[in-house]
Amino acid sequence: MRDLSECQTYVMHMRLEHRHINEAVHDVVSLFSTETAANSKELVEQLAQKLRVLRAELAKHFAEEDAGGCIEEAISHCPSVSQAATTLEGQHSLLLAHLDRLIEQTRKRTIDEDPSQLQVNINDFAKQLNAHESLENQIMQDAFGTGVDETNSCS
Ligand SMILES: [Fe+2]
Ligand SMILES: [Fe+2]
Repeated sequence: MRDLSECQTYVMHMRLEHRHINEAVHDVVSLFSTETAANSKELVEQLAQKLRVLRAELAKHFAEEDAGGCIEEAISHCPSVSQAATTLEGQHSLLLAHLDRLIEQTRKRTIDEDPSQLQVNINDFAKQLNAHESLENQIMQDAFGTGVDETNSCS
């Protein structure tokens, strides 16, 4: 098990990755919401490509968290976060499966199709991912105090 300072270092790294992932998701959402994206084959392909890159980044990020993401240490250090930690369980595979469906849906999309459903699905994925990462940030903040301020709020 990692010690407190190792986990604090890890959490700083994790938060940077979350920021990077958020930017990539924002990029996807913005691209899709441009008017031309709905009607351009090239932009649809660009969207599919961005989703594939995001998928690879997320798979790496999730694997790193699963292999030693300091969640166990957070629970040990601050048992009150255990319920939130349980909520996170299983979400990685669900999020990746969701993203796989989006990639497939984008790949199959023809220019004439109504893009609104795909857009709804992308926004839905972005919300779910954001909720997941926010909860992780909150757990780490509560346990290790490595957020905006450096104090923890473990009770
Ligand atoms: Fe995660
Ligand atoms: Fe994460």
